[in-house]
Amino acid sequence: MHSIDERDLGTPAPLQIGRPVSLTVDGVAVSVPQGTSVLRAAALAGIDIPKLCATDMLDAFGSCRLCLVQIEGMKGYPASCTTPVAAGMQVTTQSRKLADIRRGVMELYLSDHPVDALSRGFGTEMEKMAAALGVREVRYGLAGANHLQACVDESNPYFRFDPAQCIVCSRCVRACDEVQGTFALTISGRGFASKVAASADQPFLESECVSCGACVQACPTGALMEKSLLGHGQATHSAVTTCAYCGVGCSFRAEMRGEELVRMVPDKEGHANHGHSCVKGRFAVGYATHPDRILKPMIRAKISDPWREVSWAEAIAHAAAEFKRIQAKYGRDSIGGITSSRCTNEETYLVQKLVRAGFGNNNVDTCARVCHSPTGYGLKQTLGESAGTQRFDSVRQCDVVFLIGANPTDAHPVFASQLKQRLRDGHARLIVADPRRIDLVRTPHVRADYHLQLRPGTNVALLNAMAHVIVSEGLYAKDFVAARCEQPAFGKWKAFIADPRHSPEAMAGELGVPPADVRGAARLYATGGNAGIYYGLGVSEHAQGSTAVMCLAHLAMLTGNIGREGVGVNPLRGQNNVQGSCDMGSFPHEFPGYRHVSDEAVRMSFEQVWGVKLQSEPGLRIPNMFEAALDGEFKGLYVQGEDIGQSDPNTQHVTAALSAMECIVVQDLFLNETANFAHVFLPGSTFLEKDGTFTNAERRISRVRTVMKPRNGHADWEITQLLSNAMGYPMHYAHPAQIMDEIARLTPTFAGVSFARIDELGSIQWPCNAEHPQGTPTMHVGEFVRGKGRFLLTEYVPTSEKANARYPLILTTGRILSQYNVGAQTRRTANVVWHDEDRLDIHPHDAEQRGIREGDWVGISSRAGDTVLRARVTARMAPGVVYTTFHFPGSGANVITTENSDWATNCPEYKVTAVQVARVSQPSEWQKRHAAFTRQQQELLHHAAPAK
Ligand code: SF4
Ligand code: SF4
Ligand code: FES
Repeated sequence: MHSIDERDLGTPAPLQIGRPVSLTVDGVAVSVPQGTSVLRAAALAGIDIPKLCATDMLDAFGSCRLCLVQIEGMKGYPASCTTPVAAGMQVTTQSRKLADIRRGVMELYLSDHPVDALSRGFGTEMEKMAAALGVREVRYGLAGANHLQACVDESNPYFRFDPAQCIVCSRCVRACDEVQGTFALTISGRGFASKVAASADQPFLESECVSCGACVQACPTGALMEKSLLGHGQATHSAVTTCAYCGVGCSFRAEMRGEELVRMVPDKEGHANHGHSCVKGRFAVGYATHPDRILKPMIRAKISDPWREVSWAEAIAHAAAEFKRIQAKYGRDSIGGITSSRCTNEETYLVQKLVRAGFGNNNVDTCARVCHSPTGYGLKQTLGESAGTQRFDSVRQCDVVFLIGANPTDAHPVFASQLKQRLRDGHARLIVADPRRIDLVRTPHVRADYHLQLRPGTNVALLNAMAHVIVSEGLYAKDFVAARCEQPAFGKWKAFIADPRHSPEAMAGELGVPPADVRGAARLYATGGNAGIYYGLGVSEHAQGSTAVMCLAHLAMLTGNIGREGVGVNPLRGQNNVQGSCDMGSFPHEFPGYRHVSDEAVRMSFEQVWGVKLQSEPGLRIPNMFEAALDGEFKGLYVQGEDIGQSDPNTQHVTAALSAMECIVVQDLFLNETANFAHVFLPGSTFLEKDGTFTNAERRISRVRTVMKPRNGHADWEITQLLSNAMGYPMHYAHPAQIMDEIARLTPTFAGVSFARIDELGSIQWPCNAEHPQGTPTMHVGEFVRGKGRFLLTEYVPTSEKANARYPLILTTGRILSQYNVGAQTRRTANVVWHDEDRLDIHPHDAEQRGIREGDWVGISSRAGDTVLRARVTARMAPGVVYTTFHFPGSGANVITTENSDWATNCPEYKVTAVQVARVSQPSEWQKRHAAFTRQQQELLHHAAPAK
């Protein structure tokens, strides 16, 4: 069902924008691109022709016969949804005859439709059409054969399917095929017996359905309907905002009834998602009102004390006094702050400003440290800008997609749907480099040309081998490289990469990939037309993460696949605002806009506006903060929206460091793993309560709008401001728009950005300034940001984390569709029906050797620690490699991961941990301790003394 505020133009715009065609509709002149349907042309002229099976999200189908029109010179009554416009066409949409035909059609539909369905006021298209056609009663009666007794499918937690209301218009089936690309629905049976069925007549929950909701959105009758809509009734108002989950950054209309959220409807105007979404963004919002949410500030002296609820004033004064006490006792550098990619740009900017100007040091870091910091470093070194090069729509012009270390169908589902469309239509070929057989390797509708199933930790070897093939076979873009890249550096790199030690044959032992496949993939990438690279944390979270990112930039420059649509180097960012949190200067060495703190001119510009002297030396990164804490030098931490206790590697090391601090201030929604070690808890707000901006993986800055008032009483930026004022560094913002104005004033790539400008354009891809007032969809056009592109020597250095007799398997980690990162949000929604525990995936061969069967409890030990999970035996894994997700704290996935990290950025090597796996019968010692500690902390929360 469509949103309350949306207009539906009936059919999509033509794919290719052809020359304009002029026609008249009911005497109104209209000019539209060639290939437009008559139905859409009429809608663009302001004339809505009745319709049921057509929608502008799907190709025309022509089954319902409601949209019939008369066209001068044409016989009969053609369907306007399937008839393209022609020059000089004269269309009539209203006549007595047309009205009779349409009413007849509608009456037929209604004779097989529950009578009350039209009067329940959900605003379905069926209701609206019946009203528009003046059909109030059914001439044929309701006594004949009908489907009114069909069983309702309530299995999906978020929507229900009532076949009695289905008119078999196929919109849901087409939405699942065309928009989502899952092909979970069919029309089974024939004639009167035909009906919508999910995967061979299974309940939705047990079918292949991934619960994206595209079919629900497409259904014109309410047969498929959100349970929340059934519960609350139709919304009364809505606000457009941005999803707070992954880096796709889908735009939604949050539909409200009073203060209640009725449903989230993906916004067709959304530039990142074009009206589509995944199960998380559309449905998993229940955490916002979950009873676990903490809404009152709390303090305690020791982590073994019960919490005490206090007023905001007391909590802020206490936190500030503690930080000041610690600085007086241990020195200026003994405290710091951590921001989060879940927070808005404005919130993140304020945290780093508080640390640099209020704390007087540069000890600020962000959770992007543990995911995409190598992206920032590697792309800056080679191309000159720490960001992806394209917009998502660019994939529509890709001829070859090189997907490495990313699993978009789980982690970036809406981009995956767009990618699948391109692959399914046969327009693009696909290379997948991944230790796992991810979904895109082979589905009934998509098949990769190459699956390079490399060993974890060997990305650089693979990418060097591909570059070696391209150089040694003379497949590189000589003119492009000569014109656009630094020549001495390229010459050195060319000699380096041409060395036979980099050949696929020489690297075969390391990679475990047949050399012919590496050669074939390299040739396809270099010669297959527009080639786009898409990558994820499977590239960055390695000891050579930054090197691998440089290798990807090399491949793009080497083959001239950069600087236009359909090509480029595209990091798929994990969290909603990874790009933004990095842009906002939350790394210890950089001011907003990626400018080093040692740059005097830049520092002075901040000093002038902020009115304080700033430090020129980089501060501590998160792992350095932990080290310093264990050394007794780092004692106070302000953590906004990040759960380092669960998300950072080597949990036991992290918790030891947290235990060594004297004042940890956590600002979050729930008492998370970090908050269990905190002394001050400041309740944060959800994205529904925020006002600000997020920046997605395309550098697209989108508005986050307040849908409901902050339930905790203060917006997150206000809390940081209160803390700053209490620390003695005054901040006086009245609205987040003023924070963005300051960001724009101080950051050249954001100079043209303001809330007003974003509202005007819908969203903006930075750089946005005088040179690019509309933003920049494609980077490095004509020239690289750094001038000439730079090649660097990328020697492959095998990770020190090696399998051996004691730890013979390699563990790698990743995400699943229904859950999100540490699970704080999604675990508190009905999404747990799809994934209620983390499991260990193990190849049948490795399982058999160890006597492990599906569902057995298995102990996983590494050099860092032990944990226990249940096993899933699957051939998705290569032998020798095991895999788990990390969405549940008790799983202890990060108890096993080590402290190895990227040489340039300290991004942890999450993707490679040598482990042993064996059947066990009880939880690990860590799990027992963790469970007891969590119970104790819950008790202390439970007994929190209320504010006086
Ligand atoms: S919810 Fe999505 S995946 Fe499931 S049937 Fe509908 S369109 Fe297909
Ligand atoms: S989680 Fe990602 S893909 Fe899903 S709706 Fe949100 S932004 Fe879109
Ligand atoms: S809307 Fe054109 S035939 Fe259904």
